[in-house]
Order: sequence, then structure tokens, then C-alpha cells
Amino acid sequence: MIPRSYSRRDYIKLMAGGTAAAASASLLSPTGAASSFTPTTPPDAEAADRARRMKWWHEARFGMFIHWGLYSVLGRHEWAMEMEGIPVAEYEQLAKRFLPQPHAARAWAKLARQAGQKYMVMTTKHHEGFCHFDTKLTNYCAPRQACGRDLVREFVDAAREEGLRVGFYHSLMDWHHPDGARCATDEAARQRFVAYIHGQIRELLTNYGKIDVLWYDVNWPLSVQGWESEKMNKMVFELQPDIIVNNRNGLPGDFATPEQEIVAEKAGRAWETCMTMNDSWGYHAADDNWKSPKTVVRNLVTCAAGGGNYLLNIGPKADGSIPEESARILSAVGKWMEKNGTTIYDTDRIHADWHTYAGYTRRGNTLYVQVHFWPGETVAIGGLRSKVRSARLLASGQEVRFEQSDVQVKFTGLPATAPDDPVTVLAVECDSEPVINSMDVRRKRKREQVGVNFS
Ligand code: GLC
Repeated sequence: MIPRSYSRRDYIKLMAGGTAAAASASLLSPTGAASSFTPTTPPDAEAADRARRMKWWHEARFGMFIHWGLYSVLGRHEWAMEMEGIPVAEYEQLAKRFLPQPHAARAWAKLARQAGQKYMVMTTKHHEGFCHFDTKLTNYCAPRQACGRDLVREFVDAAREEGLRVGFYHSLMDWHHPDGARCATDEAARQRFVAYIHGQIRELLTNYGKIDVLWYDVNWPLSVQGWESEKMNKMVFELQPDIIVNNRNGLPGDFATPEQEIVAEKAGRAWETCMTMNDSWGYHAADDNWKSPKTVVRNLVTCAAGGGNYLLNIGPKADGSIPEESARILSAVGKWMEKNGTTIYDTDRIHADWHTYAGYTRRGNTLYVQVHFWPGETVAIGGLRSKVRSARLLASGQEVRFEQSDVQVKFTGLPATAPDDPVTVLAVECDSEPVINSMDVRRKRKREQVGVNFS
């Protein structure tokens, strides 16, 4: 993505995010320190810095999550080790069968770019403990097992080649490390384990150039104090001053991470919904509960409407290939994004009630109506509080006629069948920020002509 210049609108929009997050940081952190700064950093300086670091991410809206590990050999979800109670020594044997094709990540990055995704976040270590990168801290890593390659290096290179931003997912919880559970009750074990995890993060953020996102996961079994999360984030920002971090090391970080659900944070707090395309993050051969491309597009619209991002997962097979269904879904989404991506990227949060056959996004005074169940020649919206100046079908540019009353706007003369697949977008120019309030319709709709006599 080519970064635009930093406008006043960006600054106002993003300053709001930083201020709110800084306030919650001081509520949640035991020392009163904000996540990425020492307690003496003035809050507006922190907000401005966060706005600077997060600008690309807010514009991007759509990213690819990649869950890949030894569990991909089993093909029964990334929690197989725990769910099936597989002993560590037995599970470790999977490393002998984890032999991906060279540069498998190139195909992921290509697909991500075609799908309109602007960044990729890959598991560098999931809960199973196997590391994809070159680490001095364990031999349980791809370069020193049968695979013999640094898969994080390949991932980073592949993402950059496609012009995508790079994110590392790193699970703090570890089912393989001997101290991974006993650290909760044994101080010496805690110190060793925290040094191990902090050390890995240091390696990841030192050896692979500029990294854009650090995506912590599960902080079981320690508290924020136990993990020394303040120190962790401080190290992260010293190593990578432009990075953004999530909230799963127990601190608020730069953004919230609703999982498998789309729930907007209150205005001003950045958020990203992460979601699977079926019901599993890691490759699961038998999980056929796939979302349709339409569901994915609708979810993306819902995230953008709430000012959030959508991090959509693929679970490659052990050889690195992408499950066919995932590739098919993402390709369809990509075709839609090619024509309609402008209604997603760098949009503003919209105040809008729900509609039964459409979603909404907006940029400034332009309202985008994403119709997912096409009703035919007329599309009607209740409760739009601003005056419509013009409307067109986004993909073709064709002008659309409209009639507007106090409570309703009707777009007429539309094709009988949906002109675009899976969702058709109307671009509606308004004379002020479009707000859709259906409660207003309920109150204002004239009732004097109602003739039924109930008495
Ligand atoms: C959960 C799961 C994990 C997955 C993650 C993605 O924390 O434990 O398997 O990686 O969600 O958000």
C-alpha cells in the first residue's frame, strides 16, 4: 500500500484512538504506566506516536492470519496436542514429518495480495512450542529439525516481495517447554521461562528487519506482573520503534482482539477481529464448515463500519499448500475487492443501524451501501439523516435515480438482478456525514392516514 500524506483528518481520527487507549492503559496496568512508554511520557505524545505507528494499519482494514505448525501434519486443529492429550515425546516426532515445500509462503503472500489483504500475521510459535525461526534458545525449531530452514525468514521475504506488511504471532503459553506450566508456582521456573519468551521475542524483532505487528497470544498461566509485560513491551518498542502490538500479553497495547466475533470497541480504541474461514485455525482436513465469500465480504463490511480491521485466517497443510476451499474463497473475495475495495480501505466509522439486506460503510460524506440480498429494481433505506446529492452503482459507475423523503430514500430503476457478486455497492454522496437512525423513522413516520379502527 502506498502511504498517503498525513492529513489533518488522519490526525484527528487517530489521536482519538491514542487518547482512549492511554486512559485504559493507566487503569489496567499496575504501575499506572502506559504500554509502550515510561510513566513520564505525556499522554498526548503517546497518542501522537500511536497515531503515527497505526496509520497504515487503520487504512489497511484487511489482513491474512496464518496458523502453521507441527499440528498441520496431523490435520486435526492446532489444539490437537492438548485436546487429544498427546505426550510431549510423541508429539515431538511430528517434527520429522514437517517438511514444507521451499518458499511455500510465496503462494500465501500472492493470494493475500490478490484478496486485497494488506498485511500478514504468521505463527512464529504456537502453543505447541515448535518455533519456525532460528532461535538460540531451543533446538525445537524448524532450522534445526528435519525441515532445516528458517520459515520465518521465508515468510518475511515473501510478504515483502508482495508489498505486504509483516506481523508475527507469538504464543506466550507453551505446552512443550518444561517450565511452561510450573512457572505458575515455582519462581525459579518463572524466571527461566520469562527469560526464554522475552529472549525469543528479542530474536524475532532483531533478526528479520522491520516488523510491523507483534501479535501476542494466550498469556496462561502468568499475570501481567509474572510475564513482566511492561518490560516486554518496552523492549519491543526499543527494538522496533514503528511496530504495533496487541493486547494479549495482558496490557492494552495498541489494539483489541475480538476473536470469532465482530464487536466494535468504543470509538477511539483500535480493534481487529480475527476469524477462521472454517472452524479451525490450524489445518483441519475434516472441518468443512466453510464460510461463503459473501459471508466474508459481509464480515469485512461490518468490521470497516465499526472502524475495525478483519484478520482472516488460513491454515496451510504441512507441505505449505493452501487448502483449496480457502484459496477459492479468498480469490472470490479478491475479485470483489478489486472493484469495491475503496468502500473498505481507509473508511471512517459510521453511525448506522442495521438493515435487513445491506451493510454500510462511509468515507467523509460518502455513504456506501453494500447490498448482499438484492431486492430488485428498488433499494430503500429508512432513517438516513442527511440529504442525498447523487448516487451511482460503484462497480459500473452508472448513475442511480433516487427519491428522498424525511424518513426514507429510495434508489430506483436498478437492475432486476444483482449487478455484482456477492455484494453490490451503491455509492451515495450526501451533503453531510451520513448517519442512519431507524429509531427516528419509528418516531417520525406519519400515521394520520392510518384508517383501521381498532375500537
Ligand atoms: C486462541 C487459540 C488459538 C488461536 C488464537 C487466535 O487463543 O488458543 O489456537 O491461535 O485464538 O486468535
